[in-house]
Amino acid sequence: MSTTEQRVAIVTGAARGIGAATAVRLAEEGRAVAVLDLDEAACAGTVEQITEAGGSALAVGCNVSDAQQVQAAVARVAEELGPPVILVNNAGVLRDNLLFKMSDDDWDTVMGVHLRGAFLMSRACQRHMVDASFGRIVNLSSSSALGNRGQANYATAKAGLQGFTKTLAIELGKFGVTANAVAPGFIATDMTAATAERIGLGFEEMQQAAASQIPVQRVGQPADVAGAIAFFTGDAAGFVSGQVLYVAGGPLN
Ligand code: NAI
Repeated sequence: MSTTEQRVAIVTGAARGIGAATAVRLAEEGRAVAVLDLDEAACAGTVEQITEAGGSALAVGCNVSDAQQVQAAVARVAEELGPPVILVNNAGVLRDNLLFKMSDDDWDTVMGVHLRGAFLMSRACQRHMVDASFGRIVNLSSSSALGNRGQANYATAKAGLQGFTKTLAIELGKFGVTANAVAPGFIATDMTAATAERIGLGFEEMQQAAASQIPVQRVGQPADVAGAIAFFTGDAAGFVSGQVLYVAGGPLN
């Protein structure tokens, strides 16, 4: 690939939240962005935001845990935008429950979206990255990887993504591909708003309580995470690989 060619990025789960902010941020950095989410129509808002600002974007409907849909989606992106050499595995779901109440489906759904999804998307995109001798993979882990009550499934998946990231860094480094993970703390999105509702707290009240425990005394916004992801996807980060960056307003143990 020539350096003047526009690099193509895929951001999964980009219809809203952290994924949408990341898609917009990568477009601002000059990437052509595939805005991928379960429902193609739901991607329209993010795509419009990018195209209205003069960027280039494509809405792609795809369930990242379905191998055939992933194959088709990545082929479509390669055909319509160009070979994807930047991949942000951001799609995510919560199925929180204490262990004794956690169903098989709660477990399988979370593993399917986070772990199988990141695996299928990375496997489908790596060929394009190897061909280009350039690639950037960023996986969304979480502070929950360190353990979190009610999240045996999610914490396991997010810790698993850290091992996945480090292994991709080792396997793909010689092809010019880096892999890193971003692990956010509390970020104000529909996901955390849904948690507030589920446990019967107002979202404002929940954010205030969370902020009081965070050293910078505020909760995170999607743009905070997008900024860290943008760093990992850029040329300046070519010697940074296999890392996990906590984006949490303070240190985590
Ligand atoms: P969100 O719930 O607002 O957005 C997630 C998006 O992923 C949605 O648009 C959803 O439709 C999409 N999605 C879900 N399953 C999918 C599938 N099978 N295929 C394709 N798309 C799918 O979530 P938010 O808060 O923006 O989170 C983004 C990522 O960041 C997730 O991986 C989440 O686990 C992680 N994260 C979020 C934190 C937070 O405080 N909000 C903290 C730490 C990590």
